[in-house]
Amino acid sequence: MSYERKLRLGMVGGGEGAYIGNIHRIAARLDGQWDLVAGAFDVDPDKGRAFALSQGLDETRAYGDYQALIAGEAARADRVDAVAICTPNFTHYPIAKALIEAGFDVICEKPLTATLQDAIALEELARRSGRFVGVTYTYSGYPMVHEARVRIAAGEIGAVRTVQVEYSLEWMATAIEQQGNAQAAWRTDPTKNGRGGSIGDIGTHAYHLAGFVTGLTLESLTADLATFVDGRALDDNAHVMMRYDGGARGLLWSSQVALGNSNGVRLRVFGETGSFQWFQEQPNELVYQPLGGRVQLIKRGSDEVSMDAQVRMRTPPGHPEGYLEAFANLYAGFAEAIRARTAGRDPGLLGQNLPLAYDGLKGVAFVEAVVDSAESEQPVWLVPVAV
Ligand code: NAI
Repeated sequence: MSYERKLRLGMVGGGEGAYIGNIHRIAARLDGQWDLVAGAFDVDPDKGRAFALSQGLDETRAYGDYQALIAGEAARADRVDAVAICTPNFTHYPIAKALIEAGFDVICEKPLTATLQDAIALEELARRSGRFVGVTYTYSGYPMVHEARVRIAAGEIGAVRTVQVEYSLEWMATAIEQQGNAQAAWRTDPTKNGRGGSIGDIGTHAYHLAGFVTGLTLESLTADLATFVDGRALDDNAHVMMRYDGGARGLLWSSQVALGNSNGVRLRVFGETGSFQWFQEQPNELVYQPLGGRVQLIKRGSDEVSMDAQVRMRTPPGHPEGYLEAFANLYAGFAEAIRARTAGRDPGLLGQNLPLAYDGLKGVAFVEAVVDSAESEQPVWLVPVAV
């Protein structure tokens, strides 16, 4: 891929000891399209500046907070092209809003915001401003997820009847938030995580994955939330029954207490004439079962995969690719979308089918509906949000 210059990336959050910021940095570097040049990496300004210097950033671009980053970058001729927001959920909205209003493109972590009100406002702001807002729904970066999407859209399994999707983790199976684990602490605080616990943290990934691959729109849901760890303020396990537009059904499970499941993202889609299964821990394979035929393993890298999958692969078959490459595909896609907009052309395949602000808004609306359903013990119909 050729381009005139690297895009300049800023980052808010993702400082020393933080989780996802480092994944963003690796993903942004992988294809050589982004240079991390500025950051306000920590809620503590001194720690944030020290971290910036430890990453080799110029001291004039080692900022104490996001307001300083915006002011400093806005004044530069070589200002950052986009800023990645890698902070806890409740801070996404004010940071993204300030960045967009100052004219910056944004790459925002999921869930887009902690409240539906904020998500609606942010999506509207993104749309009206024309700024690019990508949302890092990681699992939509995998080539074999794109392969499933393309094949389902082409009718390979006929009309979808049911979707089974799950995201289960084990790391919060005990009350680690009460024993000093900062990451678990904000995730179990409704004022910081939002109203949904596991459903907001990881159920949003599963919801997006199911809709992305099937192309179906969720119509209504009935949810049951549980909190298994004593003293926890939010759900740590969610079961959601879903009805999609057109009659397809879905079942979604998110759990933070599923002992033995380190990162259990699993998707199974059953149609009238076949099924696809994709498990994140074997991400290079897609299992295809045609009606009346034999089980087939579609491998990343094989000649039979679509261009949509091929543009998201870097190594030949047999050399596994995984999580970091999937995340890098999002960064490559965001770069392509931003370059295409600047050049006034249509984006190439990598810059298409990206998770954007509207997908983020739908994810937050899903979480709200799940919590409403669980609290009322009633089904909830999703209100389509205007675009
Ligand atoms: P973390 O707790 O490990 O790190 C948060 C970082 O943000 C820390 O460095 C903290 O000092 C900094 N921070 C907090 N407030 C700030 C502010 N106002 N200004 C500047 N820095 C600030 O959190 P983690 O696990 O990395 O999660 C961050 C976000 O990423 C969350 O929204 C989470 O849902 C999302 N996430 C997404 C994943 C994915 O697969 N896409 C995986 C894990 C997290």
